[in-house]
Amino acid sequence: MEEKKTVILAVAGKGGVGKTSIAATIVRLLVEGYPDKRILAIDADPAVGLSTALGIDVETTVDDIRKAVVATAEGGDTKNAVELLGEARYRIFDALVETDGFSFIAIGRPETAGCYCKINSYLKEVISILSENFDYVIIDGEAGIEQINRRVMEKVTHLLLITDSSKKGTQVIKTIRQVADELMMYEQIGMIANRLPSMAVKELIDTGDIPALAYIPSDLSLAEFDLKGENVFYLPEDAAIVQGVKEALEKLLL
Ligand SMILES: Nc1ncnc2c1ncn2[C@@H]1O[C@H](COP(=O)(O)OP(=O)(O)OP(=O)(O)O)[C@@H](O)[C@H]1O
Ligand SMILES: [Mg+2]
Repeated sequence: MEEKKTVILAVAGKGGVGKTSIAATIVRLLVEGYPDKRILAIDADPAVGLSTALGIDVETTVDDIRKAVVATAEGGDTKNAVELLGEARYRIFDALVETDGFSFIAIGRPETAGCYCKINSYLKEVISILSENFDYVIIDGEAGIEQINRRVMEKVTHLLLITDSSKKGTQVIKTIRQVADELMMYEQIGMIANRLPSMAVKELIDTGDIPALAYIPSDLSLAEFDLKGENVFYLPEDAAIVQGVKEALEKLLL
């Protein structure tokens, strides 16, 4: 059989534009479309959310494993944390949740306020260690450009930038693109404009030379879903976000 390279798809953009909803919808569409493929969803946002969108209960996170490793390893206090995690590679699999059609892992939230830099260096390791076991890896990133800046996303092959119709949203994805061009070696890039107040604003959204993959209107049924805490697998097939993400995926994974 032909050896196919793992698709590592990361979702990035400003806070609140729909990254998690879109990442979860991607996972759903891949699970439905490729029942034989190995699919991994990574919640890379310390603020957490992808698990809920996918209907998963998380018991152990990568950060929990890190704490356990640091506590038990000899010289745990002085050793470089990534070094420690490397020594306990197999432990990462303890945080993996296997469910119908896909696997899931959450990076978790370190208690020390203000510093996610440590967790970001684990995240990079985790992506690199786990991706060889999967055909598709979907990463729901933290808002903003920090993880791109810190080269956490170095191995990403497909970069999906999300914006709303605000100037701020489009500025953020343009900045991400610039930084990504410098620091990443991605193969494909594209953007989704989400939560549009009307499809008429489509023409006004300027994302420079980032290819537009889909425009998704603001969809009230999503808000209703949020209220009920339901996961994306229950969204109707004809929901705007499902249709939009499907269109985008077809173009991005071409
Ligand atoms: N097309 C849409 N129409 C209406 N509501 C939407 C749409 N897309 C997302 N939302 C809603 O917007 C809110 C934010 O979405 P989501 O959590 O996916 O964004 P995010 O970019 O992951 O946010 P954060 O930066 O906080 O992680 C959620 O309540 C979600 O249901
Ligand atoms: Mg999110």
